[in-house]
Formats: sequence, structure tokens, C-alpha cells
Amino acid sequence: MVHNNNNRFRFFFHYSSLAKLTFWSFVFLALILVFFFKSPSSSSSSSSRVMTSSRPSMTSSLASDLYRRSLKTSSWGGPTWEKRVKSSARIRTRNGFCVLVTGASGFVGTHVSVALKRRGDGVLGLDNFNDYYEPSLKRARQALLERSGVYVVEGDINDVALLKKLFELVSFSHVMHLAAQAGVRYAMQNPSSYIHSNIAGFVSLLEICKNANPQPAIVWASSSSVYGLNTKVPFSEKDRTDQPASLYAATKKAGEEIAHTYNHIYGLSLTGLRFFTVYGPWGRPDMAYFFFTKDILKGKPIPIFEGANHGTVARDFTYIDDIVKGCLGALDTAEKSTGSGGKKRGPAQLRVFNLGNTSPVPVSDLVSILERLLKVKAKRMVMKLPRNGDVQFTHANISLAKREFGYKPTTDLQTGLKKFVRWYVSYYGSSKKSDQ
Ligand SMILES: NC(=O)c1ccc[n+]([C@@H]2O[C@H](COP(=O)([O-])OP(=O)(O)OC[C@H]3O[C@@H](n4cnc5c(N)ncnc54)[C@H](O)[C@@H]3O)[C@@H](O)[C@H]2O)c1
Repeated sequence: MVHNNNNRFRFFFHYSSLAKLTFWSFVFLALILVFFFKSPSSSSSSSSRVMTSSRPSMTSSLASDLYRRSLKTSSWGGPTWEKRVKSSARIRTRNGFCVLVTGASGFVGTHVSVALKRRGDGVLGLDNFNDYYEPSLKRARQALLERSGVYVVEGDINDVALLKKLFELVSFSHVMHLAAQAGVRYAMQNPSSYIHSNIAGFVSLLEICKNANPQPAIVWASSSSVYGLNTKVPFSEKDRTDQPASLYAATKKAGEEIAHTYNHIYGLSLTGLRFFTVYGPWGRPDMAYFFFTKDILKGKPIPIFEGANHGTVARDFTYIDDIVKGCLGALDTAEKSTGSGGKKRGPAQLRVFNLGNTSPVPVSDLVSILERLLKVKAKRMVMKLPRNGDVQFTHANISLAKREFGYKPTTDLQTGLKKFVRWYVSYYGSSKKSDQ
């Protein structure tokens, strides 16, 4: 009896442990699945849960890869979030626009968003706050935007579910597309970031815009870098753009071709703006005028490049306020898209404009101006222009933008740098804070 009881006990114990083991294995497996497939946004609202559980309609493996990537970077959804989105996008003036600004926490995006908001347009920002340069500067710009009444949604332009949701909540009349991986040299370190933001991201945005009803008009940032190795100056929109000197330039050129396609097939109104070396307060720390200022103040040597046979390296430096006026001019003259819900109904506007200053300045002169403004002598290191993306010379012909929307830059380099230096010193102090 004892023996029998013992056997039964062992039999029972054996099967109950097996059941427990199976049960806990299932729990463990379920936890792993939840961990891998749960989007941050899916937990924040029931509506976003619906959006993220159904896969976006793009079918290629590239699209699904991007979609997965976007799930990791985005955090959005919920009634409070939706209220903020709608309130920021609300038009506050008669005949005002409702504009989605991508890259809103970037240098140009911040200035353009503030200007639009100030004149009564509804503005919603979108930015993924990537760490290409100090994210704290992007957060400070975001705080500035917040004070101006512009809400910046944190998310990636590749996040199809997020874009769909934004277009569901708001009927955008315009998209000011400034989000991009900028910088020519960084492309040698991280080429895929240029494909992700400047090509895949642009296509994902255009896909949403083409399906929207009504379709918005789109103004977007191309770049003077599309002129690449051209030697004929000043650069005109009619010139060739088929010899880029960097992957960055190649992705901007690709963007112009992609814009043509979406205009041709879907009737999207598209305007590309080729910016020429934009500078000013709240600027980009990866640009020469910015890190020269930092290094001069620290007493560090700065590299000054020269072309073949000691040729001058010069840039058509354009002050941010002039660029903002150009962006607003392009938005104001953009015609409506002609399609709706993915179908073209007639020919639509397709434009490209140079936005420059029309007076190239040698980089060594830029340094002299900074020396005077900072009252510190720079330690100049003259060296040969490396072949890593930079071109020797840029110079814009701006007659087309002048004709179409009265674009006329008014700030010279001396005046603009004075404003930049004043901002720099007030933001960082006169020494080392920018070293984060
Ligand atoms: N500043 C210039 O001199 C200059 C010259 C020519 C062209 N451009 C173009 O103008 C635009 C604005 O430039 P900027 O100087 O303000 O650069 P920026 O880097 O300061 O701004 C771009 C913003 O886009 C965001 N972003 C990047 N990839 C994104 C993504 N996948 N999803 C969401 N947000 C993303 C970044 O976080 C950043 O805040 C860019 O398209 C740039 O290529 C700038």
C-alpha cells in the first residue's frame, strides 16, 4: 500500500511538474513575443493600437524593415496627444495654411515653424530628435517652439502608421518637408542614414501625401550640393546636376527625381528648394561657421581648406531669415495638388528654386569676421581640400525665385554672423559648454 501510494505520488508529482514547466514556458515565450512586437505607441492609446497592429500597406521588404525600425523610435498616441496635435495645427487667421513641418526641431525647421505660427498658420512639427548632433540643442529648439505654440511630435518620417494618424487627425493644406540627414562628410561614416531619411523617408511621406484627401502641396529642402562638380557659376536651376560630390548630394538629387515621379503620377504639387549654406542663430554645430566659433574661443586650431593651386574655397553663405522668407514665398505661391486619394486628376505644379545669397565669400574671410566679432585670433591651419564631399565653390543665381515670389536676400555675412555670435555666446557662454 505504502509502495503503491508512493508510486502514485511520484506519478502525480512528475506530471504536475511537467504541466508547470509547459505553462511557464508558454508564459516566457509570450513575454518574449510581447517584448519584440509591442510598439511604444501601441500602449499609449487604443486608436494607435489599431494603427500599429495592422501592418502598413507597403509591401516590399524594405518597407517592412523601415516599419519595424520606426516602431522602436516612436512614442505617440492617446487623447491628450491628439488634442495637442489638433490645437497646434489649428489655423488662427483667415485664409491661413495648415502646415506639417518635418524636421521642425532642426535649424531651418525651427525658424520656419516660428515664422508660420507667428503669421497665424496652423503648424504641427515632426522630428525624430536623432543624435547626428547634440540632441540637447534640438530639445532647446523644441522648448522655443513650445513657447510659440508649436507642438513637435516625436517620430520618424518612416513611421507610416504615425503619418497616417497625423493625416487622419489634421487636414494639412501644406507640408514643409525639412527632415533629412544633412552634412556631406558624415555620409562616409553612416551612409545608410542618408538612405533612411532622404530617400526612404521622403518616399514614405509622399505615399501618405498622395493618398490624402485633400492632397497637400509640398515644399521641401533639396540642396545646392546637387550642382556637385559643376564649374560654371553662378549655379542656375537649368544647369546639369548629374555629378554629385557626396552621397548626401546624390540623395538630394534622387529626391528631385522622386518628386518628379510623384508629381507626374499622382498630381502632387511639389516645390524643391536648393538652399545654399544656411547660417544663423540656433544653427547646426556640424557646420564650419559654428565649429570655427567654438574652436576659436577654445584656442584650438581650425582647418582652412584651399583648392588645387592654392585656389580659394568660397561659399554663398545665406542668412537664416532670408531662407525663411524664401520658404514662406514658396509656400505662398504653391498651387494645390490636383489628385485625391491616390488618383491624379490633372497636371500639377513642379518647381525647383535656388535660395542663396548671390555673393560667395572665401572661407578665410569668414574666419576674419569671426576673429573680429569674438575678439580672438584664430589658429589657422591651411590644408588641401580633401575629396570627402565638399566642393570648392558655391554661388547661386536666384533670378527664378526673385521672379516667382520676390525672393531677395538682405543680410550680408558680417551682419548675419554678428547675430549668430550674439546667440552663440548667450546660449553656450563664451567658452566650452558646446562640447557635449
Ligand atoms: N543648413 C544648410 O545649410 C542646408 C543646406 C542645404 C540643404 N539643407 C537641407 O535643409 C533641411 C534642413 O536642414 P537643417 O540645416 O535644418 O538640418 P537639421 O539637421 O538641423 O534639421 C533636420 C531635422 O530633421 C530631423 N530628422 C532627420 N531625419 C529624420 C527622420 N527620418 N524623421 C524625422 N525627423 C528627422 C533631425 O532630427 C533634425 O532635427 C534638410 O533637408 C537639409 O538637407 C540645409
